[in-house]
Amino acid sequence: MTADISPVGPGECHVWSAEAHWTPGLLDLLDDDERERCAQFRVEGARALYLTAHVLARQVVGAQLSLDPREVVVVPVCKHCTGPGDRPHGKPTLPGTSLELSLSHSGQRVMVALTAAGPVGVDVEEIAEGRDLPLDVLSVPERAELELLAPEERPAAFIRYWARKEAVLKATGDGLMVEPSALTVTGPGAPARLLEWRERPEPHLPVRLEDLDAGAGYRAAVAVVGDDDRVDVVHHPLVRVG
Ligand SMILES: CC(C)(COP(=O)(O)OP(=O)(O)OC[C@H]1O[C@@H](n2cnc3c(N)ncnc32)[C@H](O)[C@@H]1OP(=O)(O)O)[C@@H](O)C(=O)NCCC(=O)NCCS
Repeated sequence: MTADISPVGPGECHVWSAEAHWTPGLLDLLDDDERERCAQFRVEGARALYLTAHVLARQVVGAQLSLDPREVVVVPVCKHCTGPGDRPHGKPTLPGTSLELSLSHSGQRVMVALTAAGPVGVDVEEIAEGRDLPLDVLSVPERAELELLAPEERPAAFIRYWARKEAVLKATGDGLMVEPSALTVTGPGAPARLLEWRERPEPHLPVRLEDLDAGAGYRAAVAVVGDDDRVDVVHHPLVRVG
């Protein structure tokens, strides 16, 4: 990998992005569960996304801890399951470290976020032009704001809301088990902020929420739960994993 894997300093959240590539030689870097899951994807594009994301995560965590990527232990934890599930799933955790990890993949794009500043969630989404938008994931104020936009502006605006909301839901580990319409974030024209979380009234969460430049055709955001002003987001240029 040609990534500049600079150390993640205190109070920093680093984000790495990559294009997905199917490189079977990299399967060797995964653990058994990851390899098994990767093999279950029938479409090569989906396998490539999974492989690239999990290898990139292992490489950045390995660099941070001076470990070979194969030695990195990533344990997915689902806060909604009380007993053992069919397979490990949920928010990735790094036991025995103070580091927090999140990963996301969509289209051809992969993102990995790493920080010691607090629980982190990253989300990248491809803009889906020409499809019906699932508007019920938006809160009432978000939907009203979106409907003020010209129809051709709506797909990108919708994905901006979606990435911001899902970044927060991934940081808390709730994922889509929580109704995304319960959250209200700022609209696409304004800096990213969590405005309201219905059912978790103020003070709901201090969250540092920031948009990331994911390139044309994508929108992305990262959220770190913790003191709003103290986290510095460092987004590295696109790397090639392989
Ligand atoms: C996980 C979820 C937030 C992912 O959204 P997405 O846009 O489809 O996918 P992304 O690429 O952005 O993120 C996927 C990654 O998020 C991580 N993830 C999974 N669950 C997570 C959670 N609850 N919180 C934070 N991160 C989570 C995983 O690392 C996953 O990567 P992997 O699938 O390669 O292992 C969403 O699909 C979800 O909540 N699913 C779980 C539904 C559920 O909980 N079902 C019942 C469980 S008991």
